[in-house]
Amino acid sequence: MKKKSQLTAKNANRYDLYEESVQNVEFEVEFISDTYKKYNKSKCKTIREDFCASAKISSAWVQDADINIAYAIDLDAKILKYAKNTFEKNLTVDQLNRVKLIKGDSLSYKTPKVDSVVAFNFSYWVFKNRKDLISYFKNAYRSLNNNGLLMLDSFGGYEAHQELEERTNHNGFTYCWDQHSFNPITNDLTCYIHFEFKDGSSIKKAFEYHWRLWSLPEIKECLIEAGFKNIDIYMQDWDDEKDEETEEFYKMTKCDADPGWVAYIIATKK
Ligand SMILES: C[S@@+](CC[C@H](N)C(=O)[O-])C[C@H]1O[C@@H](n2cnc3c(N)ncnc32)[C@H](O)[C@@H]1O
Repeated sequence: MKKKSQLTAKNANRYDLYEESVQNVEFEVEFISDTYKKYNKSKCKTIREDFCASAKISSAWVQDADINIAYAIDLDAKILKYAKNTFEKNLTVDQLNRVKLIKGDSLSYKTPKVDSVVAFNFSYWVFKNRKDLISYFKNAYRSLNNNGLLMLDSFGGYEAHQELEERTNHNGFTYCWDQHSFNPITNDLTCYIHFEFKDGSSIKKAFEYHWRLWSLPEIKECLIEAGFKNIDIYMQDWDDEKDEETEEFYKMTKCDADPGWVAYIIATKK
């Protein structure tokens, strides 16, 4: 990545900026490993990363252990090309052999069975009706070994229903999360990510998402209908002193009606 203080709309790469501002793959890889171990008392070796974008989780996954294997799936050929280039720069030949980048539809693409299917950053919200969401969950179910886990995330709270812009400063650029429009009749939610730079330039609509805002009980019901046996919700903890979220998630069945929350959903195959 270019020296951050020199970043401008002209020289910045939006995929690099996305990874820096949105993703925390070290945390996610640890979360996948720890969660699988907690449920199965064994090691998670194979993952399928749906809606993988630059497949950063898969890349970190095959670097994390010599036996780890990852299948990474996305519809977008452009982002997969970017992923391939970064893989070739950063991974050894052995690691490259253990990760497959696949241009395909996560709704229907068949991979060999894996220990965990992961779909993070709310990407499965592209499925806007129950039929499609359940079809996606059924495909994830089919892709799992018998002890397998589907790991999803979700956000909500009353702020999720608001049209708002949230800015976070990073070194050399500002990340802007734009909840641009929300229709309470359908729960259609359109969001953009913009990047702004110190020289006044910006990349508007660097990424756009046309989602349905699903609630946790709706997601749970669709998972059960797709065949999953047990669904646990892990809510993110809050640090009262720092007045910010922590990296800890706790399994809960009841929690406060926070204005904005993020949760992980863990669905077990058996
Ligand atoms: C929110 S981004 C990906 C986020 C990434 N998983 C992460 O954790 O940051 C959504 C990605 O899903 C991809 N996508 C959308 N619909 C898809 C589908 N049906 N199958 C596979 N990929 C899809 C888009 O091309 C885009 O790269």
